[in-house]
Amino acid sequence: MKIFAEYGEAYRIEMLAPDNWHNHFRQKDDPRFRPTVAYIASQFARANAMGNTVPPITTAEQIVQYRRDIEEAATEAGFPNFEPLMVLMMTPDTTPEMVTSAFNAGAYGLKIMPANVTTHSSHGIVDYKAKLFRDCLRVARSQRKPALFHAEVVDPSISVQDREQLFIPILSDIREEFPNLPICVEHISDADMVQFVMNADSYVSATVTPHHMEVVEADAQHDVHLQCMPYPKQMKDVEAVRFAAFTHPRFFYGSDNAPHLRPTKEREHPSPASGVFTAPVELSVLVELFERYRQLEKLEAFLSERGARWHGVRQNKGEVTLHREPWVVPDVIDLGDGNEIVPYKHGHTLNWRLADCLRLGQPT
Ligand code: NCD
Ligand code: ZN
Repeated sequence: MKIFAEYGEAYRIEMLAPDNWHNHFRQKDDPRFRPTVAYIASQFARANAMGNTVPPITTAEQIVQYRRDIEEAATEAGFPNFEPLMVLMMTPDTTPEMVTSAFNAGAYGLKIMPANVTTHSSHGIVDYKAKLFRDCLRVARSQRKPALFHAEVVDPSISVQDREQLFIPILSDIREEFPNLPICVEHISDADMVQFVMNADSYVSATVTPHHMEVVEADAQHDVHLQCMPYPKQMKDVEAVRFAAFTHPRFFYGSDNAPHLRPTKEREHPSPASGVFTAPVELSVLVELFERYRQLEKLEAFLSERGARWHGVRQNKGEVTLHREPWVVPDVIDLGDGNEIVPYKHGHTLNWRLADCLRLGQPT
């Protein structure tokens, strides 16, 4: 990583092309799909393609087709070298054979979403002790593939503030039976969970979003576009997440970019859709955040090194360059056909801009 500075202020950054280990593109015919692929592929060499699409990605055949759809859209947007990272969405009916086929089709892990925890999760897992579920985890463990957890309990009588920490016993129980199963706690948001991951051995990691590094509950109550699951927490939690992102080798980037059209976010009934549309601003926001806390020299490890190392894949070869150039994030992005979407940091001035898109830096 090269940080060019003048008079004590950085003005240009060159770093290894980054990875995004948690991201939602939506499905091919959805108006959100192509713009989201373009935004993500312009900033990341690789990004996860979470499969809570409609219908969800629950078979090897769907993985192959979904990867093709994303690659096509990325190529069309000018990023033919972009690599989608595919996962199998677990349902109560997923069998060990389906898991094996998914891995053979190139899935790098299993996504475990509790049923009804968040957007399009109705097919998710209900019983973590079910024999079929445990048999699937056994396959993952034997093939050294990770289980990627949306780590929240779903009981509506439990406050959103407590839902992640109450998932710790479920993870502990799974780890007792499968100590060598790689587990990633997705979009970590709670100080107790941060402690759990830090105290665990090298088989446990976490992804960190930009918003869980700075948004607190009160912010989300004022701006529906900041509402997501896990719901933003308190300052002590945000500080714990941020400290982990700055310092810890098993905490790495996964934006949980989750586009929702404006009316579904701004409606009152049913309650607004959960998810933050970070795609247009991700690298700019991260540079700004790391700079604000004087941690710029840690950014490359967080974005481009730790995730690849934990997952045991090669690091990217290309580079991205950002330069200091203030720009105003639009209030609304028009996706065409009357579809509007409100991005993270809407209306804010950001100080950093991507100079060269990845197509210039990625090897063919
Ligand atoms: C995500 C989405 O919209 O797909 N929403 C969210 O609030 N994070 C789903 C998820 O990752 O939980
Ligand atoms: Zn997500």
